[in-house]
Amino acid sequence: MSNIEKVIEFLTGKYSFNQRVGIILGSGLDIFNNSILFSIEYREIPNMPLSTVPGHKGRLDVVKINNTSVIIMRGRYHLYEGYSSKDVVLPVEVLKGLGVEILAITNASGGINETYVPGDMMLIKDHINLTGENPLIGSPNFVDMRNAYSPRLREQFKEIGKSNGIELKEGVYVGVKGPTYETPAEIRFFRTIGGDAVGMSTVLEVIRARSLGMEVVGISSITNVHRDETSSVTHEEVLEMGRRISKNLEILLKEWIRRGI
Ligand code: HPA
Repeated sequence: MSNIEKVIEFLTGKYSFNQRVGIILGSGLDIFNNSILFSIEYREIPNMPLSTVPGHKGRLDVVKINNTSVIIMRGRYHLYEGYSSKDVVLPVEVLKGLGVEILAITNASGGINETYVPGDMMLIKDHINLTGENPLIGSPNFVDMRNAYSPRLREQFKEIGKSNGIELKEGVYVGVKGPTYETPAEIRFFRTIGGDAVGMSTVLEVIRARSLGMEVVGISSITNVHRDETSSVTHEEVLEMGRRISKNLEILLKEWIRRGI
């Protein structure tokens, strides 16, 4: 039995899940703390690695929003921590194994698009995977990545944004390995190839989710913006701005679930 099968057997043997919707939360995006039905720490789950970065918890929460329960993964694995692409996609595989068919992935990212300001939220319409990794290597799985970010779900979020007065940008997410932030030359390159935001997560998870037939929506919190040679960024800033954006992100996600998707 593979590690992931053991994790799912452990979870389904101990707890009851019947969820269609799963959410992966990014750095500093600490939301849905008031409606938790039950939680399982990753460290209680045999074969589940632990995240090593401040600001990243390792916990699975089942949360009740109106009458829908949703599984939240707080804590993901990053390539820059030394994890493999197979480790990085574990939370997606766990969610799929627990019955999730619709996956919302959130992250903190740096703005590349010069019209963005810190605090913006961006619906991901497409990505460019510059990590040099792919979780499907080893299984000849030629997944179609057109419309990987569901146009149907994007429309729903745009509509919810409009009716709640929350502005949502829409753009292309560039996925890199990290852990260094980008040089000005790299940012110019990403802008030239059509990137709007850059971050160190998401792309591998989306590839795996699509290979498992899940419908995906991705939302980036723009915690900092790369403007010129003088704009700098720190991990603390990213976490702090993530927290400030959390309120609107929670409104969007709650309303999305409340409407029944
Ligand atoms: N670059 C990469 N990842 C990030 C950034 C950034 O500027 N901000 C938050 N995550």
